[in-house]
Amino acid sequence: MTDERELQVTTVLALDDSGDELPSNHSANPHFSSVIERRLSRRQVLAGSLGAAVAGLLGSSLVGTAEAAPGRLPPQAIGRARNGLNPTLGFEAIPVSRSDTAVLPRGYKAQVLVPWGEPILGSYPAYDGVNGNSGADQEQQVGSHHDGMHYFPFEQDPNGHGLLCINHEYVDQRVLHVRGPTTVAGQRPTDEVRKEIAAHGVSVIEVRRDSRGEWGVVRGSRYNRRITAGTPMEIRGPVRGSGLVKTKYSPNGTRTRGTINNCAHGYTPWGSYLTCEENWAGYFLGIQAQRISALFDALGYVGPDIRQGGYFARYDATRNQIIGAIGETVDQKFTNNVYEQSGNSLTSSGRQLLGELESLLSAYNVDIPLPREQSRYGVPVSSRYLWETAASGADEYLRFDTRIKAADPGDDYRNEPSTMGWVVEIDPFDPTSLPRKRTAMGRFAHEGVVYAPPQRGQPIAFYMGDDAQGEYVYKFVTRARWAPGLKGDVLDEGTLYVARFNDDGSGDWLALDITDPAFRFAAAAAGVEFKDQADVLVNTRLAADVVGATRMDRPEWGAVHPQTGEVYMTMTNNSARTETDAANPRPNNSTGHIIRWREQGNRSFATRFEWDLFVLAGAQDNSQVLPAQGGPALDASNIFASPDGLWIDDNGILWIQTDMSGSQQAGTGGNPNFGENAMLAANPITGEIRRFLTGPKDQETTGVVTTPDGRTMFVNFQHPGDRSTPTNFTSNWPDAVVYRNAGDPAVVPNPTGPRPRSGTLVITRQDGGPIGL
Ligand code: FEO
Ligand code: CA
Ligand code: CA
Repeated sequence: MTDERELQVTTVLALDDSGDELPSNHSANPHFSSVIERRLSRRQVLAGSLGAAVAGLLGSSLVGTAEAAPGRLPPQAIGRARNGLNPTLGFEAIPVSRSDTAVLPRGYKAQVLVPWGEPILGSYPAYDGVNGNSGADQEQQVGSHHDGMHYFPFEQDPNGHGLLCINHEYVDQRVLHVRGPTTVAGQRPTDEVRKEIAAHGVSVIEVRRDSRGEWGVVRGSRYNRRITAGTPMEIRGPVRGSGLVKTKYSPNGTRTRGTINNCAHGYTPWGSYLTCEENWAGYFLGIQAQRISALFDALGYVGPDIRQGGYFARYDATRNQIIGAIGETVDQKFTNNVYEQSGNSLTSSGRQLLGELESLLSAYNVDIPLPREQSRYGVPVSSRYLWETAASGADEYLRFDTRIKAADPGDDYRNEPSTMGWVVEIDPFDPTSLPRKRTAMGRFAHEGVVYAPPQRGQPIAFYMGDDAQGEYVYKFVTRARWAPGLKGDVLDEGTLYVARFNDDGSGDWLALDITDPAFRFAAAAAGVEFKDQADVLVNTRLAADVVGATRMDRPEWGAVHPQTGEVYMTMTNNSARTETDAANPRPNNSTGHIIRWREQGNRSFATRFEWDLFVLAGAQDNSQVLPAQGGPALDASNIFASPDGLWIDDNGILWIQTDMSGSQQAGTGGNPNFGENAMLAANPITGEIRRFLTGPKDQETTGVVTTPDGRTMFVNFQHPGDRSTPTNFTSNWPDAVVYRNAGDPAVVPNPTGPRPRSGTLVITRQDGGPIGL
């Protein structure tokens, strides 16, 4: 049998191994260039913000008082409001780096903790970087691609003993498997798929500092746990029991298996961990593939389908012709065109246009509807890792094939993608608890979630970004009101809002609530019907389109200032932006920016806010700190691009982590040399920014938290050496050199040295002082 993937298909679409989502917001939502210009002085807006911040500094803290549950400390009770709002950075900025190791300022040191493959469970199978581990081993080991992370301290020794929860976003198959991924006769070997699924998800790990100051895994801990892309979970909130999440696995729509592409994270005031499902759509074989196959049948083509990335083709050997459907942007309009060409290779020259896919489907009477809950999220015509082809044919793998196979959705997996795209709540202190998908918080490419400091007697607000080009910023406000001891299914009831950033520096939170008259009016005006709130939530992006939310430059992490409640959020980049608005002011925004807002009256549940830009990232000639104040450009001590991870520590330091592209790191393609991905420290009041840490080759710096005393910092390096092949490693971190200090000789990777692996860097000061100050 022919291997589908051996056939040659060349298209205009570049395949991107990062798994970042291709744009799927093809709505005609307004950009602000088309909104009536009523811009106030940005200086005025900022002056107002600063005034409020200073008032916060001098006035009382907004943070409520919490009671510690036995054995653990609620996170918001820890160390808040210690040094106020204006931290003095106490380290010397380090230069950009191309060294294959972590580089820290002088006076700092580090160790590696819980890299991919470290055993934490069961028989504790040792990591084997030479011969590889099995899928069963991986289920007992730390997953790959560390991302969002939180540290839950124990009441006794909170600064030396706690639970570390780490997200594992995805895998590099070329590094995960010693011979790379394989496909035999169109099927993936089952154990490879099992291992990939187990390398995804979340690790809960009890960690402890020993008498020498070294952190390690507590073996035999009752808390250690792996949650993977196959772990049973509950669907909670308004979508629970909806027909939209009925599957063969859960015909009553109350359960699903696994959490996928866990990017950033969050936690709650009641001490649970939140993990966010980001680029989950690409893991599925979409119904669109079924429609295209049917069209090829109708057109008389026979032969194997070729599925890859954004295209779908079929080679007919009997006529030596290939036919393909390709998603492409033509004249700024995204469309699927169908081409045919002689031979077995579809190229951009020599192909004949047969027509636009939807028109051809209609003309040839292919009557398979493409549900909006797939199309608006870009569920593709080919799955990213081909898990659905696992040779065993077991149901746990077949579920990634969403093609309609039965009369009733309860008898196939057409709805499986609708069980993904949620925030998932995990109780790290109860290893037997089922993770709960909190559907009230909406379904999109969830980057992360961060709550505002809760105020006694008031609802609690959670901020979230949808990381895809032109997608939105959201806020969820609980129905329950904060009081110490609040816990349980608090996240199942509340109101989901989407943000509109007005050009005059004001903003509006627009409710996505079927009982809200304004929402119902907007939906009716747009000609969009929602059956119930479950329908609104499964189709969150469409609901946000309807109310006229502002299309943003890929919202990533948020951070809330522990005292002022001011919210910061990274807009990592958006090369697709053509029309600008005040909140996304640069066309072809390749370097990104950080926006911030303050809720009206400092009430996190307000429906109005004020916003401004904290920094336009980029090179010296294309950047500015606090642009509304006429702040300075970035310089050698702090240039960066593509901000992603973000966190404000208890001392008020804003930590910025980068996810720059390979060309940004290398200084190619017209970029300056930004160096390896890095972490910078900023003072949110003055706008001072200093580069604190650079990471090893080809990694992304993502995930940061400290112990409550601020003296031990955990930082994740994801996918070091992600340009590796199975026989040529572009990084050897962490098994060669864990860290060096600024000014030390650079580390050069050895292509045949140790296999690179994601891991956590534990940073301390030589003198034991607080990090960053
Ligand atoms: Fe997984 Fe948007 O980063
Ligand atoms: Ca990210
Ligand atoms: Ca990113």
